[in-house]
Amino acid sequence: MNESFPRLTASEAAALIKDGQTVAFSGFTPAGAPKEIPKAIAAHATSLHAADQPFRIGVITGASTGKSLDGSLARAEAMLFRTPYQNDPDLRKSINEGRTSFFDLHLSMLPQAVRYGFLGPIHCAVIEACRVTPSGEITLTSSVGAAPTFCRVADKILIELNRFHPVELHGFHDIYQPQDPPNRLPIPLCRSNERIGTPTIKVDPAKIAAVVETNAPDECGVFGQISETTARIGDHVASFLAGELAKGLIPKSFLPIQSGVGETANAVLNSMGDCRDIPVFDMYTEVIQDAVVSLMKAGKVRFASGCSLTVSQPVLSEIYKDLEFFRPKFLLRPQEISNSPELIRRLGIISINTAIEVDVCGNVNSTHVLGRQMVSGIGGSGDFARNAFLSIFTCPSTAKGGKISTMVPMVCHLDSSEHSVQIVITEQGVADLRRKSPAQRAHAIIENCAHPDYRELLRDYVALAGHSHSPQTLSAAFGMHLGFTKDGDMRLASFKA
Ligand code: COA
Repeated sequence: MNESFPRLTASEAAALIKDGQTVAFSGFTPAGAPKEIPKAIAAHATSLHAADQPFRIGVITGASTGKSLDGSLARAEAMLFRTPYQNDPDLRKSINEGRTSFFDLHLSMLPQAVRYGFLGPIHCAVIEACRVTPSGEITLTSSVGAAPTFCRVADKILIELNRFHPVELHGFHDIYQPQDPPNRLPIPLCRSNERIGTPTIKVDPAKIAAVVETNAPDECGVFGQISETTARIGDHVASFLAGELAKGLIPKSFLPIQSGVGETANAVLNSMGDCRDIPVFDMYTEVIQDAVVSLMKAGKVRFASGCSLTVSQPVLSEIYKDLEFFRPKFLLRPQEISNSPELIRRLGIISINTAIEVDVCGNVNSTHVLGRQMVSGIGGSGDFARNAFLSIFTCPSTAKGGKISTMVPMVCHLDSSEHSVQIVITEQGVADLRRKSPAQRAHAIIENCAHPDYRELLRDYVALAGHSHSPQTLSAAFGMHLGFTKDGDMRLASFKA
């Protein structure tokens, strides 16, 4: 490392950030997110607030981050605004109580929105790195996210040089930034495993205002045991895909898989791994979760292109112990490449994402509970679903111990419309919405995906519309949601005249 970069403590670096500034942090999920500088910014904010002085910053990241970043800054009431995705309980509470202003963005669009100036100036980028050279070449750690863009536009860069991540990670990243319109050219990637960029982000070394040395693991959670419900969802996905393959509707060599975030997504990948009728496949995805690593070791996943290694601590240690085994099998890319609509369409990605609720027409809500409470954000689900070769949404058929049906008359918030949703899968079964009118889609969703406790209620709802193109009745469309708000159980709703 170049001694000419100022070496500061986290608190000294945090003091370089002023009230009202916008700070962009590396990281995509807790993977690769800075830890010590954000905690120091939060402590700085708390002490200023105690002295009745204002301190709030705009916070932009690739996606969600860890508790040291989103959690600390939310608890310190230090966020002026937050985008594009979050998953921290304290931040979620602050957003849903109206204390933090949050706006949800398609993750592929975040870097270009920053470059176009839509999010205002970026005063400072805080970047976790495992290596930085005197000439300003930065090797990132376990994610790429939007770090290349943040480094490019920020007035100054603070580096968290995290010794936990080995310098041998050099070579796992493929940094490529498209030109901006009107000069944008096609992105030259035609296969999941192609390398199109450089292993490092190159910056003007004069912009590096501080290097803070740390040694801290990523703050990714551990997946619980796969439940019976998510295992059944996974099995339905695997048999559906095997069936499509047998019918010749998926090429024999198979297509790259994108798999969403969370417990259900992990269970789906496990089932795909166990399914003998699904051949060895590649992943072209946003987040590489634990299941991908197991499938790679079992020889079922050949290659994974992603934006982050969002794996539990034991799995990350396993990867770091055997980096040479994984070197030809992984590439980490910027989110505007991993989630690029152009590439998703070109590569023919099979996309599998999780819904909060699905309505009888096939519209999907991925983000809001009861129309008001933000869960996490749309993430990459819209990027993938809209452009996929085949777009699948999964979820358990009920939530909150059966008191909520995830199959509803009309979604209370729309993220992916019926035009982007082809297959819906719950533990009950599979609704194939292709070639179906809205009324036929409603039939397939109710009979194949809704929980038996809710089928009669949903049939009653559809009957209200009589003979119409779309089986919707505006005066009753939120009857189940309102029933839950009033009585705490959607089963108590009624659509009988
Ligand atoms: N109404 C109310 N609450 C609901 C609900 C509904 N219809 N459906 C789910 N929930 C609740 C669950 O009960 C759970 O709450 P809890 O934490 O208090 O128990 C919470 O929402 C999460 O549900 P869970 O079943 O644990 O979900 P998951 O881990 O599979 O994640 C999403 C599901 C939708 C939150 C998650 O996939 C997501 O954020 N998706 C959007 C972004 C995305 O798709 N990214 C991937 C693209 S690459």
